[in-house]
Amino acid sequence: MDLVELERRAAARLPQHVYDYMRATAGGSEVLERQIAEWDAIRLRPRVLTGATPPATATTVLGTPVAAPILVAPMAQQVDAHPDGERATAAGARAAGSLLGVSTNTAVPFARIAEGGAPWWFQLYVTRDRRLSTALLERAVAAGAGAVLLTVDITRLRHPRAGASVSVEPTDWTDGRTGARLANLTEEELRIARGEGGRGDRGLGVDAITWIREVTGLPVVVKGVLRGDDAARAVDAGAASVLVSTHGGRGLASSVGSAAVLAEVVSAVGGRAEVYADSGIRSGLHAAAGLAIGARAVFVGRPVMWGLAADGAAGVTTVLEALRDELVGAMDLLGASTVADLTPDLVAPR
Ligand SMILES: Cc1cc2nc3c(=O)[nH]c(=O)nc-3n(C[C@H](O)[C@H](O)[C@H](O)COP(=O)(O)O)c2cc1C
Repeated sequence: MDLVELERRAAARLPQHVYDYMRATAGGSEVLERQIAEWDAIRLRPRVLTGATPPATATTVLGTPVAAPILVAPMAQQVDAHPDGERATAAGARAAGSLLGVSTNTAVPFARIAEGGAPWWFQLYVTRDRRLSTALLERAVAAGAGAVLLTVDITRLRHPRAGASVSVEPTDWTDGRTGARLANLTEEELRIARGEGGRGDRGLGVDAITWIREVTGLPVVVKGVLRGDDAARAVDAGAASVLVSTHGGRGLASSVGSAAVLAEVVSAVGGRAEVYADSGIRSGLHAAAGLAIGARAVFVGRPVMWGLAADGAAGVTTVLEALRDELVGAMDLLGASTVADLTPDLVAPR
């Protein structure tokens, strides 16, 4: 898939400030480029003479069947990319047999997103005033969310042109970029959200996992883990999965990349929970490498956003299907008939 061309088409359709926001990292563009390069640098050891049948990519994540272990990362305010926003993303994901994360900062009502027909997981930023988070969680459950992605990393974007930090709070309730209104809060809740109570809870501990499980009855995926010890603590506290992520380079500029720490996290979790990875996944080869190291699935962010901006739901489907086709090609060359055959021995030691 020609992602450079797709991004160019998306950029041509997006207002400059929206494109800049989507592309932004915690530093310059080199932050994300370095992380993509780390996926590229993984060397694979193909198996031959296996008698392997043509590869099948179908699997499950937390029991939900998906056509391939390539899922859509939660991204804020997709109405900036396409008028139907997350509803179009959901329809595109459904056509590809995939699943999507839905950001706390969506301007589309959960029920409309659910109409798109794809399984979806609600992404939560816990607020200082927990009433806001509770309300969102309850509404997500009512609309059919299958799990909660609890985002625990902290983002700080740098403006790609000005070079200065733009303070984008994780809970950007008013959305100064477009004025889009967050659709899943009442007027009264939005009033609270615009004050101190709407800011991210910086004092979050592992007890948040128990609390979310109690409020929702759903499995909790902890998103933004980059260390084995943190992953183990999250799982000990009841997390069903951990998502190894640098928030697409939007967290700490000089942080380690997901590719570099995935094996450590897989080992620390020791099969007690599912492990996923995102940040810099740009090809089926990257996905194959992540799965071989031990991820159950990978999430993809910006490429899906570019597909959405360029071609709406169809663009989302095209990106997901192209990645899946590339994964099939990689599995074929690696001698893997199913995703379970993607095992750590396929990865060369460093
Ligand atoms: C425009 C944009 C908005 C995002 N919004 C959120 C968000 O609201 N919540 C969240 O947990 N992660 C958010 N992320 C991070 C993604 O979920 C994911 O971790 C990241 O995009 C993966 O990296 P990639 O873009 O290199 O694939 C956002 C990323 C982008 C690019």
